[in-house]
Amino acid sequence: MKKVLSGIQSSGKLTLGNYIGALKNFVSLQDEYSCNFMVADLHAITVPQDPANLREQSESVAALFVAAGIDPSKANVYMQSHVRQHAQLGWLMTTLTSMGELERMTQFKDKAAGKESVGAGLFVYPSLMAADILIYNADLVPVGEDQKQHLELTRDLAGRFNSRFGEYFTLPEPYIPKSGARIMSLDDASKKMSKSNPNPGSYISLLDSPDEIRKKISRATTDSGREVRFDAETKPEVSNLITIYSQLSGLSVAEVEQKYEGQMYGPFKKELAEVVVSVLEPLQNRYHEIRNSGEIHDILRQGALNASEEAEKVLQDVQRMMGFVI
Ligand code: AMP
Ligand code: TRP
Repeated sequence: MKKVLSGIQSSGKLTLGNYIGALKNFVSLQDEYSCNFMVADLHAITVPQDPANLREQSESVAALFVAAGIDPSKANVYMQSHVRQHAQLGWLMTTLTSMGELERMTQFKDKAAGKESVGAGLFVYPSLMAADILIYNADLVPVGEDQKQHLELTRDLAGRFNSRFGEYFTLPEPYIPKSGARIMSLDDASKKMSKSNPNPGSYISLLDSPDEIRKKISRATTDSGREVRFDAETKPEVSNLITIYSQLSGLSVAEVEQKYEGQMYGPFKKELAEVVVSVLEPLQNRYHEIRNSGEIHDILRQGALNASEEAEKVLQDVQRMMGFVI
């Protein structure tokens, strides 16, 4: 069975962008692939985190995975830090990565811009991400558009390892959805929707109440036109809302356009809010059940156990091939 690995950082609240670009696709892959889905807590600390906050966020992200529909009997759900082989292979991958490659990463450039001091972890993060994927020799990696460059680096590192030490790694393929891979901010369609945006009106958190969701969508920026029509170039705000509608309702973009032909933005936004609520409300109910029952701890323990077993085999092979005494 082909293998899938993906992860989401526990550095803040998950947004509708994370759901549409990543989480929703994790769920759809679990029936056909052998899947490992991790809470990327080691990645979260590449920017400073408050310990109590980090712990809460990590548990929250794990519970959201399950609430969104990941079935722990089909896929491993675990904390990255519980499977120590990630960090071990991370170091080995760091030694195969050049400074120049890391300097070219646009996410690093964006996150480091204007900062007086930038942690070395933020810089080497793509080498750890490569290890996350390669430690299972994964075939497919479901991610949003912003991770494409990191995936390319992973493939380069896998190829470099193979040519220096012998054919071993599969070159992993990104699985980036055609639509929804880059959900934009509600207040500025030139920026991606992000949990690190200081304006909470710019994103929908998966845990926002139905009323907050309605308020945020009714305040979302549109344009001075009046057509509910998809055109990413000239109508980026409305196009973003149509994408969200389409992704959550199952209607195609053309069907959404047709449904609102001749109507103004008001009714479209109202119904969009109800579409979002109809997906997030049941997800939130499951989330609270999972958090209250404490079952997430057993899920994480079992997930880490299964994942470590797979990871240890690869780590041993890699260490042997690189010349470590085993
Ligand atoms: P992060 O929150 O950076 O750990 O991202 C977790 C996953 O969500 C990655 O696969 C991202 O590519 C994806 N993602 C994050 N923000 C968005 C967005 N605005 N639109 C689509 N996908 C996103
Ligand atoms: N870097 C990813 C992000 O910020 C999260 C992540 C960490 C990841 N390791 C991964 C995604 C491995 C896919 C595969 O979104």
